Amino acid sequence: MNATFPASPDLDALVHSARECFAQARASADLENAKAQFLGKAGRVTELMKGLAQLSIDEKKTRGAAINQAKQAIEAALAERRQQLADAQLAQQLQAEALDVTLPGRQRGAGGLHPVSLAWERIEQIFGSMGFDVADGPEIENDWFNFTALGNPPNHPARSMQDTFYVDMSDEQGQPYCLRTHTSTMQIRYATAYAHRHLDALRRGEVGEIRVIAPGRTYRVDNDATHSPMFHQVEGLWLGANVSFKDLKVTYLNFCKAFFETDDLLMRFRPSYFPFTEPSAEIDIQFSNGPLAGKWLEVSGAGMTHPQVLRNMGLDPEKYQGFAFGSGIDRLAMLRYGVADLRQFFEGDIRFLAQFR
Ligand code: PHE
Repeated sequence: MNATFPASPDLDALVHSARECFAQARASADLENAKAQFLGKAGRVTELMKGLAQLSIDEKKTRGAAINQAKQAIEAALAERRQQLADAQLAQQLQAEALDVTLPGRQRGAGGLHPVSLAWERIEQIFGSMGFDVADGPEIENDWFNFTALGNPPNHPARSMQDTFYVDMSDEQGQPYCLRTHTSTMQIRYATAYAHRHLDALRRGEVGEIRVIAPGRTYRVDNDATHSPMFHQVEGLWLGANVSFKDLKVTYLNFCKAFFETDDLLMRFRPSYFPFTEPSAEIDIQFSNGPLAGKWLEVSGAGMTHPQVLRNMGLDPEKYQGFAFGSGIDRLAMLRYGVADLRQFFEGDIRFLAQFR
């Protein structure tokens, strides 16, 4: 036997076929499969090694060395292909994540408040400047706060299923909860929450004062160009020893002038009915200028707080009197911004909303 390795065409062919197989692998998973075929436990190289057992010692040496050389060649081919695939993958990733530093920067879109929020904020500011507190309360209400305490008798049509959204859940009295149909609930909630202050004041021979607005969401079964099932109201309540209808007129007129930023404004009170005020009125305003000039526009319900409502608040009607009003915030926003269809406020069309920025 020759000391140099005999030519081993089977081993050359094996190395060649390993190279081809590796070259065909397009991803590292393919390559690892291909590797197993040649270098794995049941791979072709291992098979050849097992075949050595039948050879003589001399033959083992030469054949063994030749197989090892072939194995090394296969391992080198594998390493080379691994590197190629890794390079290709990196190149692809760099390509995908390429930054074009010459592109203009992405602007952060300038947001803006919704027109109803703008109106809401103005209302809080204006009444705040007139000494009104701002209160917030629940939208899911019980019968007492939404109806009974406000003088709504049990069979009043306002309670009917056609107007009121009921929640499938009852209070301890077995009365169903509802989505509040107005913010007047907050008259009772706020006054009773603060009644103790007034009892203290009374003991000192004084009469306290409640001056609050309560803006928020309200719900009724209604849906057309001027009604939405969810809408916004702002409640106003001013109670004290001498708060009169005159104060209601002055307060509301000053509010309207500030809200609409004009003095050219007429206001009238139309007799009306609410079970929690007596007398009751609808407040209409009329602009002297602008696109709505000359039309009476209804903006609010109002009236002097009913004595029984004062009692329900824990206040003595002989000591306390005052007024309440409830205005539609959406309605005020429509008038201020000249919006004809209420539904536009709630469709979320950015082209519409962006006009109010
Ligand atoms: N809650 C009444 C409504 O929703 C409005 C109102 C509030 C009237 C306060 C009088 C006093 O129609």
